[in-house]
Amino acid sequence: MPVPGENRRCFLAVLHFFTIILIIITFPSSTAAIGDGQFAYYGFSNSSLTVDGAAMVLPGGLLQLTNSTANMKGHAFHPTPFRLRKSPNTTVQSFSASLVFGIISPYIDLGSQGMVFLVAPSTNFSDALPAQYLGLFNTRNIGNRSNHVFAVEIDTILNSEFMDIDDNHIGIDICDLRSMTSRPAGYYDNSTGGFHNLSLISGEAMQIWIDYDGGAKQIDVALAPFKMAKPTKPLLSMPYDLSSVISDVAYVGLSAATGLAGSSHYILGWSFSMNGPTPPFFTAQLPDLPRRAQEASRRKVLPIIVPIVTATSVLLITLAVFLFVRRRLRYAELREDWEIQFGPHRFSFKDLYFATEGFKNSHLLGTGGFGRVYKGLLSKSNMQIAVKRVSHESRQGIREFVAEIVSIGRLRHRNIVQLLGYCRRKDELILVYEYMPHGSLDKYLYCHSNHPTLDWIQRFRIIKGVASGLLYLHGDWEKVVIHRDVKASNVLLDAEMNARLGDFGLARLYDHGTDMQTTHLVGTIGYLAPELVRRGKASPLTDVFAFGIFVLEVTCGRRPIEHKMNSDKLLLVDWVMDCWNEGSLLETMDPKLQNEYDADEACLALKLGLLCSHQSPAARPSMWHVMQYLNHDLPFPELAPMDMVQNRQVDSPVAYCQSVVSDGTISGLSEGR
Ligand SMILES: Nc1ncnc2c1ncn2[C@@H]1O[C@H](COP(=O)(O)OP(=O)(O)OP(=O)(O)O)[C@@H](O)[C@H]1O
Ligand SMILES: *[C@@H]1O[C@H](CO)[C@@H](O)[C@H](O)[C@H]1NC(C)=O
Ligand SMILES: *[C@@H]1O[C@H](CO)[C@@H](O)[C@H](O)[C@H]1NC(C)=O
Ligand SMILES: *[C@@H]1O[C@H](CO)[C@@H](O)[C@H](O)[C@H]1NC(C)=O
Ligand SMILES: *[C@@H]1O[C@H](CO)[C@@H](O)[C@H](O)[C@H]1NC(C)=O
Ligand SMILES: *[C@@H]1O[C@H](CO)[C@@H](O)[C@H](O)[C@H]1NC(C)=O
Ligand SMILES: *[C@@H]1O[C@H](CO)[C@@H](O)[C@H](O)[C@H]1NC(C)=O
Ligand SMILES: *[C@@H]1O[C@H](CO)[C@@H](O)[C@H](O)[C@H]1NC(C)=O
Ligand SMILES: [Mg+2]
Repeated sequence: MPVPGENRRCFLAVLHFFTIILIIITFPSSTAAIGDGQFAYYGFSNSSLTVDGAAMVLPGGLLQLTNSTANMKGHAFHPTPFRLRKSPNTTVQSFSASLVFGIISPYIDLGSQGMVFLVAPSTNFSDALPAQYLGLFNTRNIGNRSNHVFAVEIDTILNSEFMDIDDNHIGIDICDLRSMTSRPAGYYDNSTGGFHNLSLISGEAMQIWIDYDGGAKQIDVALAPFKMAKPTKPLLSMPYDLSSVISDVAYVGLSAATGLAGSSHYILGWSFSMNGPTPPFFTAQLPDLPRRAQEASRRKVLPIIVPIVTATSVLLITLAVFLFVRRRLRYAELREDWEIQFGPHRFSFKDLYFATEGFKNSHLLGTGGFGRVYKGLLSKSNMQIAVKRVSHESRQGIREFVAEIVSIGRLRHRNIVQLLGYCRRKDELILVYEYMPHGSLDKYLYCHSNHPTLDWIQRFRIIKGVASGLLYLHGDWEKVVIHRDVKASNVLLDAEMNARLGDFGLARLYDHGTDMQTTHLVGTIGYLAPELVRRGKASPLTDVFAFGIFVLEVTCGRRPIEHKMNSDKLLLVDWVMDCWNEGSLLETMDPKLQNEYDADEACLALKLGLLCSHQSPAARPSMWHVMQYLNHDLPFPELAPMDMVQNRQVDSPVAYCQSVVSDGTISGLSEGR
């Protein structure tokens, strides 16, 4: 009985009122047997049903014919039999039956056999088989007309031995499970006449009407979702005279059976009447069908959950593999056996990656001729580092190179930048140095805006510091280390403004006494000694030459090579020489000093710079002597400008250098900045 939505509450209230009145007046329980030749069960609490097998009445009043256990059968009969004929040997009278039922299957798409409404001479079905026999027959009596069974099957399994049409059908059975007629479950819409499929195992309550017209000898069966009124057009309609089938005294009952799978067959309400329509069912009177979720959630959920979980885990694994591979690629390093000895100096790329936050541009300290330098913070030791990424192509030299830089890493001096370690990747060498908070000296000398100018005392300390660092490299240690790239940008200033000689990436190591022949020319134009350009031969004296240029640079505040307006290149050395010749040596002093300097020290620095950058290596002092002069431990030799000029070449080193570069014998040259 459909109840329009807005009137529903009102209707239900009235209904309740009448129900209560009805109960009080007529019935002691919710179960009712109305008069003779008919009955109606609105739920089954306290009913006198005859049940057997798995059938039972649940506490809420729901009749459960089977639960979800496999291979079960259950029966329920109205306890008193009916006489469906007026007298023996006459035809069977009209009768109607109606059921509100629900089938709950643990599986979304699989039922388990089914249930039947039946009219039979007996309630003893102990011989009947479960499963496809639906608790009705056994192999012996099936199909035997003498069993006098009329049934309407609600079948959820396709049993080909009984020629079932599908696994979701309603059929009319006479003494047999081979239906006389059957149709897929569904109903015809009243207004449109269209057919709507219904799934018997949907877990929704449905109503079935079985009507036998004794006059017309016609059986009609209709099905509809519960709460929908009976469709005008029945699902099944079959002309048949049940007089030959139904016994004189017949029981009206229900049967259900499960097969390999199990499903619960529930009856909410059941009515029967002879010679008249069945009384309607009211929603409020009937017990509730358990939700599919309550009974079947675990098993129902599995088929849904499993694919989701599988898909999710496949996705997660793929993601994990992807991330792992990406991570491996991102942090990939080159490690070879020979590196084991350098173990303590080896940094993992991952640590450096995190220290520099992925080599962020905001961490970039500067870019040199060989690569970029980043500032980093090692999370473990909370130590600030400078990370220099040097790209290299040749794999042959790398072993010697690493050996060198690691042994250089053992050098300790207050005027050199400590190399902390290295890391190696494909085509890339990463060097890790102490971080110098004040950066490189060239920024103080040439950058006007950011840094205050260094005063003379600081500059002279820096010159002494660099000299001391270079002396340590050249002699104090057990090996001669030639720096090979002494210049202002490789002099870094620590927190106390001490000069620290950095960048040993280009340096080569030589044992004392061995030939100091080198194969590659490296260095920066402007700092290259002429013999180095000519013969590619690096020696401590080529470092002294570069140191001399550096001293002049710091004292005069000018670059070693200045580009003049008329595109002539002016060498700083030549200019200082010229001034000295003209007797105005101190005019070369950096104007930013504003004449605040110690004249003696300034003269010493300028002359020392000139002497160190003498064209002839033999004329240059060693670093040991340089230290002596600077500390006034040794008087600086009296020199005239003429002593310097003698060997000065007409060719400028730059011109020479360029000619050599075009011959392809110089590698690793970087333009002075
Ligand atoms: N240990 C360090 N601490 C702080 N800053 C550094 C450190 N090492 C390098 N830098 C900064 O990084 C910049 C680039 O250094 P890099 O050594 O790559 O270039 P360069 O010295 O100018 O030339 P070259 O490649 O010939 O050495 C430097 O100018 C300096 O400012
Ligand atoms: C059903 O019977 C029990 C006792 O057997 C009784 O307590 C209960 O009230 C009855 N219920 C109804 C609806 O009559
Ligand atoms: C089904 O009912 C039978 C008895 O009728 C019982 O033994 C079995 O445990 C029940 N199964 C479930 C799943 O409730
Ligand atoms: C009923 O019909 C059978 C044969 O169909 C007959 O043998 C029998 O006598 C009849 N009984 C009565 C009471 O008419
Ligand atoms: C049911 O029928 C079987 C034989 O078919 C019989 O053995 C059994 O006793 C009967 N049960 C009842 C309660 O009559
Ligand atoms: C049908 O059943 C009756 C009694 O139960 C029996 O005598 C008869 O032989 C059966 N017929 C067949 C074809 O099995
Ligand atoms: C009903 O179900 C059958 C198969 O069982 C299908 O062929 C038919 O198209 C369905 N009809 C509608 C209206 O869904
Ligand atoms: C269908 O129509 C009949 C009469 O025409 C009516 O009694 C019945 O309630 C209708 N059913 C629906 C579902 O509308
Ligand atoms: Mg450098």
